[in-house]
Formats: sequence, structure tokens, C-alpha cells
Amino acid sequence: MLLLLLGLMAGTCLSSLVPEKEKNPQYWRDQAQQTLQHALELQSLNTNVAKNVILFLGDGMGVSTVTAARILKGQLHHMPGEDFQLEMDKFPFVALSKTYNTNAQVPDSAGTATAYLCGVKGNEGTLGVSAAVIRSQCNTTRGNEVTSILRWAKDAGKSVGIVTTTRVNHATPSAAYAHSADRDWYSDNEMPTEALNQGCKDIAHQLIHNIPDIEVIMGGGRKYMFPKNTTDVEYGDDEKARGTRLDGQFLINVWKEKKPRNKNAHYVWNRMQLLELNLDRVDYLLGLFEPMDMMYELNRNNQTDPSLTEMVEVAIRILRRNTKGFFLLVEGGRIDHGHHEGKAKQALHEAVEMDRAIGQAGALTSPEDTLTVVTADHSHVFTFGGYTPRGNSIFGLAPMLSDTDKKPFTSILYGNGPGYKVVAGERENVSTVDYAHDNYQAQSAVPLRHETHGGEDVAVFAKGPMAHLLHGVHEQNYIPHVMAYASCIGANKDHCQLSSSARLGSQPALFPGLLTVLLLLSLF
Ligand SMILES: *[C@@H]1O[C@H](CO)[C@@H](O)[C@H](O)[C@H]1NC(C)=O
Ligand SMILES: *[C@@H]1O[C@H](CO)[C@@H](O)[C@H](O)[C@H]1NC(C)=O
Ligand SMILES: *[C@@H]1O[C@H](CO)[C@@H](O)[C@H](O)[C@H]1NC(C)=O
Ligand SMILES: *[C@@H]1O[C@H](CO)[C@@H](O)[C@H](O)[C@H]1NC(C)=O
Ligand SMILES: [Zn+2]
Repeated sequence: MLLLLLGLMAGTCLSSLVPEKEKNPQYWRDQAQQTLQHALELQSLNTNVAKNVILFLGDGMGVSTVTAARILKGQLHHMPGEDFQLEMDKFPFVALSKTYNTNAQVPDSAGTATAYLCGVKGNEGTLGVSAAVIRSQCNTTRGNEVTSILRWAKDAGKSVGIVTTTRVNHATPSAAYAHSADRDWYSDNEMPTEALNQGCKDIAHQLIHNIPDIEVIMGGGRKYMFPKNTTDVEYGDDEKARGTRLDGQFLINVWKEKKPRNKNAHYVWNRMQLLELNLDRVDYLLGLFEPMDMMYELNRNNQTDPSLTEMVEVAIRILRRNTKGFFLLVEGGRIDHGHHEGKAKQALHEAVEMDRAIGQAGALTSPEDTLTVVTADHSHVFTFGGYTPRGNSIFGLAPMLSDTDKKPFTSILYGNGPGYKVVAGERENVSTVDYAHDNYQAQSAVPLRHETHGGEDVAVFAKGPMAHLLHGVHEQNYIPHVMAYASCIGANKDHCQLSSSARLGSQPALFPGLLTVLLLLSLF
């Protein structure tokens, strides 16, 4: 009887969660018909040349993270959340990307960055080099460097930019400009003497020297640009924020000196300086807002540090002045860090902020001439479940107790990580702690200091010219080949010789017809 009562109560409670309009079957039919109309319109493909390409990379943004971020963003807008649409959800084409590294089933961010930026899969921990390079072995590097789409775009006369919430010399951005046997070689201070003796250069050095005319560089990583023990401009008392370089170089000065005299190169280190710039007069911008990675969005000081969205807006306004177009890499880099720490709330707010940046980029560009791709390098062992009712807080509890230890559990859980907690020989009772706190570490099945990456495929969202080429289950290194093809840069651009009307596919016979006419003419 009691069970029946409880069941009935749960039943009424759950049905009252259903938005009134959704009880009408016509609501769902209309909604599906509208989606169908949009899908039918996709039959006329956008085969324009992509003047601009923007790649948004959510580090560690697996599919479960995308879904949870969608619910969170909806709930931040005071909606139930499940039916909310992220900006990336609105993209017409979606594919899956196989993320493994050449030597790793579950990959890392360096090997994957080599794949989606350079078009070649590499080993875990290595950057901008082929799988012939062994991690940490400097002397395997020479001759095995591979170039990135950022270089291909530069060679085609486009402007290029890198925006990240991590250090600008962290794994993801680094593969765009550096070639390194080890992702951890942030400055020469982090390199083994052997590698230095063998002539390998640290990643910060490569940022300034390899492609000296990158128009926009923004993120963290100030300390790797200054000689060892140089006091940081923002955190004077913090020893960990001091410069690291052993070679005594002030790389920000080197960066400035390498620019042509008649160009305006601006270095900024805080938000106010950034927002005060007259962007019409900025040719080169270097913004380094923290000594290491930038703050989590939830902890950000909105006076000193720009948001990812603000950085993306500045970047696009500078880059789009080039009539030949631009390539921009944007990394939501700390989704990954939140997950590694088991702090799902930090990770999801990072993902929501990246989605805002995607919306901002969409407002400043057009899918007529801009290919935008949103993807992740790899997933995490992050999950949410437990038959939570509609509109349940994404950080909330499942509506049941464990049937063995009789304790509640949060919907969000990790397969492994620092959230594993045993109290007096038993799983911690989450009702006794603040599981909605920004830094709450969700429970995990296996204790690990750092939660790990996940190995399943990640999503690729695409809109704009040739977005339909991202259409199935692809190897991750296919992505930059599509972006290059679409924008007529890099290796295979034979198709770009055809006139754009022929390429629209409406008159497939035009080209052979033209050849026949020319042949006939030559006969006379
Ligand atoms: C390359 O360096 C490794 C140590 O990192 C060393 O064991 C090896 O002998 C070197 N190989 C060559 C060909 O110099
Ligand atoms: C580092 O800098 C601090 C403050 O400028 C100074 O007191 C200290 O002696 C320096 N340490 C070294 C090893 O140079
Ligand atoms: C900046 O942060 C402060 C303190 O957290 C907050 O009160 C204020 O509303 C924020 N301002 C903006 C523009 O976000
Ligand atoms: C868990 O904690 C809550 C809140 O303190 C308490 O009401 C409940 O009885 C606890 N459950 C168990 C199994 O200890
Ligand atoms: Zn990671």
C-alpha cells in the first residue's frame, strides 16, 4: 500500500513537470515538421568558397558534456533545459570524430591537436609532428614536422588568430604553430638539458619565431615569456607567477621587434587595455591575461580578465579586415581542466561560455562565406543519469536511493577521479555536503588524483561552405582537410580553378562543354 502511494505521488509529481504545451500531440508534430522543412532545404548545398574558417575546440567536450551544458544553459535561462538549443545545436551538419592517437586508444590533447590542425595523426604527448616522433625524444623530431591549417591559411595571404582560455603554449594552440616532441616543453625551463643540447626549442619560443606574423594571439601563459624570476605584472607577491625562461629572453619584446615598423603591434595583459584598443588600428595583438591558464569562467575577475566571448569578438573584428579572409582557432580549454579535477560545475560553465562565444562569432560572420566547425579533441569519463525527472537541476540528485547502501547520489558521476570518497568505510552521503557548490567534486568509481579522458567518439558540428563534407563517422585528422578544401588553401585546391558557378553543381556539363568549344576553336 505504501509503495503504491509513493508510486502515485511520484506519478503525479512527474506529470506536473511536463510543460502544458507538450501534452498536445500537435506540438510535437509541428515541431518535427518544422525540422523536416529545414532538413529538406539542406538539399541545396552551400558550395561557396569559405573566405573565413573558424574552428571552435572544446577541450574534453564529449557528447555527455554537450548535453549537460545544454541543460545547464537552459536552466540559467530559467527553463527546464532539456529542450534548450545550444548555438552549436543549431548547426545543420553533425559528424562523429574518432579521436584515438597513433599509440593510444584513449588520446591526449597534443596528439589530437596534431590531427585536427595538421591533418595527420600523431603520438600522445607530441605536437605538430608525425608518429615517427617519440615523446620527449628531441632527436626524433627533425624531418618529421607537419604543418597546420594556420600555416596554410597564412601562406594563402589570410589573417590568422589563436584564442584560448589556457596558456597560449598549451597543447591545443601549440599544434597550430609548433613542432615539439613533448607538449610539456612550455619554456626552456621545462625541458631536459639533453633536449636543449640536441637543439630543440621550447614552445613559447616557437610561438614567437615559427610564424612571426600571427595577427591575433590571446590567452594565458605570461610567465613563459619572461626571464626566470621576473616578477609578474599582476601577481607581484606570487612566486609561482614569476618568469621561467633560462635563456634570459623577454619574448614579448622579441614579438614586437619582429613586426614591420609601419604596423601597429599591441601587447595587453588585462581586460581594460583590451577593450580600450581601437581595433581598426591594431594589426597585431598579443594578449596574455594570466601567468598560466586563465581563470575558470565562474571565478573570473571581470575587471582584469576578458571572457572567451569578449576575446573572440576582438579577434574577429581584427581578422576580418583582411579582404582575403581569415582562419581563427578558438579553444574552450578549461572544460577539460574542470573534468580532470572532478569539478563538473566548473567544466560545464566553461562549455556554456564557449557556446556563448560561438553565438557571438555567428553574429559577426555569415555562413555564406564562413565555415564554422565546433568539435572536441576527446571526451571524459563524465556521465549523468539516474532517471532524473524533467527540469531536475543538472547538478541535482537522482530521485532514488542506492538500493544497497541506501544513500542518495548525484545524477552527475565520473568513472574515475578525485571525487571518490569513503567515509567511515562507506560511500559518502552526498546529502551531508553541498553538492551544488562550484567546486564540488562529483563521486567517482575509482580514486584517481586526476580524472581521465574518455575514449568514445566526439561530435563535429559544422555550418557554412562545404559543411556537408562533415557528414559521417570520420577519423579526426580528416577535419582540417575539409576546412582547407572549403577555403581553397593547402594541398588539394584544383577544384578552386573552376568558376564558382560551375562549382555550384547546377550545370555539371558546363566545364566539358567549354573544353569542346576551345578544342573546336583550336582546330581553326
Ligand atoms: C636520441 O636520444 C636518446 C635519448 O633521448 C638516445 O638514447 C639516443 O641514442 C639518441 N639517438 C641518436 C640517433 O642520437
Ligand atoms: C628573485 O626575485 C626576488 C624579488 O625580486 C629577489 O628577492 C630574489 O633574490 C630573486 N631570486 C633569485 C634566485 O634570483
Ligand atoms: C563583475 O563582478 C562583480 C563581482 O563579482 C559583479 O558584482 C558585477 O555584476 C560583474 N559585472 C559584470 C559586468 O559582469
Ligand atoms: C544522509 O544524510 C541525510 C542528511 O543529513 C540524512 O537525512 C540521511 O538519513 C542520510 N542517509 C544515510 C543512509 O545515512
Ligand atoms: Zn585533459
